[in-house]
Amino acid sequence: METKKKTVLTYGTFDLLHFGHLEILRRAKEMGDFLIVGLSTDRFNEIKGKQCVHDYQTRKNMLEAVKYADLIIPEEDWEQKTKDVQDHHVDLFIMGDDWAGKFDYLKDYCEVKYLPRTKGISTTKLKALL
Ligand code: CTP
Repeated sequence: METKKKTVLTYGTFDLLHFGHLEILRRAKEMGDFLIVGLSTDRFNEIKGKQCVHDYQTRKNMLEAVKYADLIIPEEDWEQKTKDVQDHHVDLFIMGDDWAGKFDYLKDYCEVKYLPRTKGISTTKLKALL
């Protein structure tokens, strides 16, 4: 009997791609077979009040070079997650624990886990250093 592949989904802006990003992607991929990354669009970042150094296409190109990411989809609004989970038959939803509890409503559709953030690094910190 063939066992079903486990699909994992996570979201983020992934600007100035750094070690903390790679770590969450690595751990997310290890928890399944296929990792989908919802990447915030420039318009959505504007809505969130997040100023990016790199535009969507550049951030996408960089994520495509990361071996853990199998598919990158645009994240355009706060409401799309339930539909993404259903459309892509997602088994596990992962976010860093800075988002703990925020997406528990997805538990009706898939498993939801929040992983500890990698300490000492963030895009905000890198921007400040630059
Ligand atoms: N993340 C992490 N460890 C870090 C930084 C980010 O695990 N040190 C995770 C976040 O929890 C999120 C994903 O990486 O699940 C994408 O985070 P993003 O907001 O794009 O990166 P940050 O570095 O947190 O950016 P910012 O400082 O702008 O909030």
